[in-house]
This record gives sequence, structure tokens and C-alpha cells, in this order.
Amino acid sequence: MATAPRHFLQFNDFSREEFDYLFERTRWIKDKFKRYQPYHPLFDRTLVMIFEKASTRTRLSFEAGMFQLGGSAIYLNTRDSQLGRGEPVEDAAQVMSRMSDVVMIRTFEQGIVERFAANSRVPVINGLTNEYHPCQIMADIYTWIEQRGPIQGKTVAWIGDSNNVCNTWLQAAEVLDFNVRVSTPPGYEVEPERANLYGTGHFEQFADPMEAARGADLITTDVWTSMGFEAENEARIKAFADWQVDADMMRVANRGALFMHCLPAHRGEEVSAEVIDGPQSVVWEEAENRLHAQKALLEYLVMGRVDGK
Ligand code: CP
Ligand code: NVA
Repeated sequence: MATAPRHFLQFNDFSREEFDYLFERTRWIKDKFKRYQPYHPLFDRTLVMIFEKASTRTRLSFEAGMFQLGGSAIYLNTRDSQLGRGEPVEDAAQVMSRMSDVVMIRTFEQGIVERFAANSRVPVINGLTNEYHPCQIMADIYTWIEQRGPIQGKTVAWIGDSNNVCNTWLQAAEVLDFNVRVSTPPGYEVEPERANLYGTGHFEQFADPMEAARGADLITTDVWTSMGFEAENEARIKAFADWQVDADMMRVANRGALFMHCLPAHRGEEVSAEVIDGPQSVVWEEAENRLHAQKALLEYLVMGRVDGK
């Protein structure tokens, strides 16, 4: 019996040492790609991508990334595969993992990716669930490192909804030893059990968003209404009105603080145009790094370590 594959379903599936390795591989792979030097370690390998929610960046970065590594990527969605007609996730995992070398899933409940992974012969990657978005935070932290150096001991302010991206920042803070300050409107706070599980000692909640932002090294936010929560949109627009990242908020952060947003963004809602289009924003670098960080992830999951250690 072959050994069970590794999966990347939550940020804390990997250790700090593994992230150090992955960030170094990201740097190497990106640099090589920028020099137009071919690197095709995944020749003949296939990535299957399952999307139950919309995507621009995740689809593009995984598909382009797999091609750039010499492999192929196949896109499936629930409308035109049997997944939308009730085929059990467990059966889909058995079949798909016999025809491919790695699977990426974007879906609703985290339980779906967990069930798929439990029945898969190949590594499974979480491409976003209601609960987590680990590939995003891997790219975000790589972007921080590229711009500013180590993230250990730094302070990240999360302003807005305590959603999948926020939860993943909290997990990352624990794995990589930095601090996250979260400010949400009343009623949208981080769930206490999640804070206990993933934020111990690295996480503080603030009622006032300006207090969360004060002295931060990085300010980040996301849409007020995530995919799957559209019915709450009107109520959320009212509740979140004071949780916009604007120039006044950037001014209370540390000098040289960066602004990040996983995108897509809504200027005038969670962030002002002045901030997202301003000099502290690194949102385009952040989006581009999805491509390179995920290439390092694909290489690691399919081939294991390539540095001989
Ligand atoms: N940030 C992100 O995951 O973007 P997409 O929804 O476009 O994939
Ligand atoms: N929180 C957002 C992220 C989109 C990339 C959502 O889940 O819709």
C-alpha cells in the first residue's frame, strides 16, 4: 500500500520549516520563470481543478502554473460534471485521483475537501472554502517577505469580515509566529472556538478599527460579503460602513506599512480607491505571487522536496 499523500487543506497542515522551504522554492521558481528559463518538473502530470464557486485568480494561477511546470490542468465545475448531479464526493475522489496527480477544489463547506482528501490517492489542495483560503495566505506572506523580509514578530491588522481569509491569517500567525489584530462590526467577530484553536497568543480583537490599525505593519481586508453569503449583502453593507480601509487608517499604521487585499475588491466599500491604488498597496504583486507560490506548492506535493534535504 502506498503511503498516504500530503494535502494542503488548511494553512496549519504544514510546519514553519515547510513554509520556509516553500517560500525559498517560490523565490527560485519565480526567478527562473522571469529569466525565461524553462523548468518542467511536472511533465506528463495532471492537475484536476474542481470549482463550485466563481474564480478568476485561483483558476488562472493554477492552470497557468501547471502548464509552466510542464504539466496539464483540467477544469471541472458542478454544472457540467456529475458532481452537480449528486455523485458522492467520495466516489468522485476515487475516480479523479486515479486519473490525475494532484487535485485542487474550491467549494463551500470545509468538510467537502476533507471528505475528498480522505478518499484521494493524490494530494488535494484547498482552493477556498467557506472556512479557509490557504493558498491566498501563502502568496500574501511570500509577498510580504519579498517586499519587507521575515514576517516573524510583525503585526497584521485585519479590518472587516472575519471570513475564510481572516481565519487563514489567524492560522498563519500561529504557524509563523506573528500577530494578527482583527476588527469587525459587532456580530461579525471571529468565532471564539476558532480564536482558541488558531489564534492563541497571536491574536487580539478590537471593537475600533482604528485601534486595530494603529502601529500595524500590514493592513489587509476583503469583501464584506463572501461568495455563498449574498443573501446577507444589504445588511452587511449597513453593518460594515465604518470598517473601510482608508487613508486615515493607513496613517495610523507604521511608517512603510503595506496594504493587501486578496481581490476582487470593491472600491468605496471595504477599501477606498486612494488606498488600493496608492503607493502602499501591493495588491498586484500579491495576485501575481499566487502563480509562483502555487507552483512551489504543486512541485512539493507532487514531487516532494527537491533540495536534497
Ligand atoms: N483571491 C482569489 O482567490 O481570487 P479568485 O476568487 O478570483 O480566484
Ligand atoms: N472571502 C472571499 C474571498 C474571495 C477570493 C470569498 O469567499 O468570496
